[in-house]
Amino acid sequence: MLRWTALAWSCLLVSEMYEFNSNGLYFLTSSSGVTYQTFCDMTTAGGGWTLVASVHENNLFGKCTVGDRWSSQQGDNPNLPEGDGSWSNKVTFGTAEAATSDDFKNPGYYDITAEDVSIWHVPNNSPVNQWNMAAILRYHTSRKFLTLHGGNLYNLFKSYPVKYKAGICNTDKGPVIPIEYDFGSDESVTKLYGPNTKTQFEPGFISFRVFNHEQAAMAICSGVKATGCHLEHFCVGGGGHFPEGEGRQCGDFTSFDWDGYATHAGWSASKEVTEAAMLIFYR
Ligand code: G3P
Ligand code: CA
Ligand code: CA
Repeated sequence: MLRWTALAWSCLLVSEMYEFNSNGLYFLTSSSGVTYQTFCDMTTAGGGWTLVASVHENNLFGKCTVGDRWSSQQGDNPNLPEGDGSWSNKVTFGTAEAATSDDFKNPGYYDITAEDVSIWHVPNNSPVNQWNMAAILRYHTSRKFLTLHGGNLYNLFKSYPVKYKAGICNTDKGPVIPIEYDFGSDESVTKLYGPNTKTQFEPGFISFRVFNHEQAAMAICSGVKATGCHLEHFCVGGGGHFPEGEGRQCGDFTSFDWDGYATHAGWSASKEVTEAAMLIFYR
């Protein structure tokens, strides 16, 4: 069924105006008149969640090359401290249907005024109708924290730039928000990362804009609050320079592979989380 809701700028409005209540692809229209298709989660905690972005890792061996839209596609470079700048600009890319196979960012990311976020980690290349069932982790915030940060992540990251050397570890953290699990638990979040990495976080939160030991910036630490400074093994997105390891940590999934690709040993993340796209919703 094609759902055409040209007057609605968010899935929340669709659910209120049209009383559609099934998960799937809908058409939305931004305040500047851009019509786009995206996925609405109409069931989680009352529904009305709009998919606004996905962070997908197409090649962890690439290191800030093509496909690293949430860090830099222009190489690890201290002269480009914000990399591609996607967290705080209005460049859009990808499609909703391919959100688990490539990066996705639609006008809702900067246009919708929202209160909370929901995150799904969905195995790469999953078809839309299986996202919910296939997800390895789903959770949402409920404290309306976005109202304190301009109503969306575009504005939040304007206040907290994802920019190399714009701050230091621990001192210059962005918001840290407790989460409610829709699928998963503190234990299952912890299991996604390597044995060394577990010493660097506490599960049960989502954190925004952090810096590591070397002042590399990262955008989102999903499911966790950072307690140490080796954040590059579990936080995603970033600026354009990661000093440690001569560029080896630069990329959308930063240094998930420090001790080998998907080995789940040392500082390396599990195959499950390495090969899952992070879907970002607003409500
Ligand atoms: O983030 C870990 C890195 O800074 C140190 O790694 O290989 O010396 O254990 P390693
Ligand atoms: Ca990517
Ligand atoms: Ca480190």
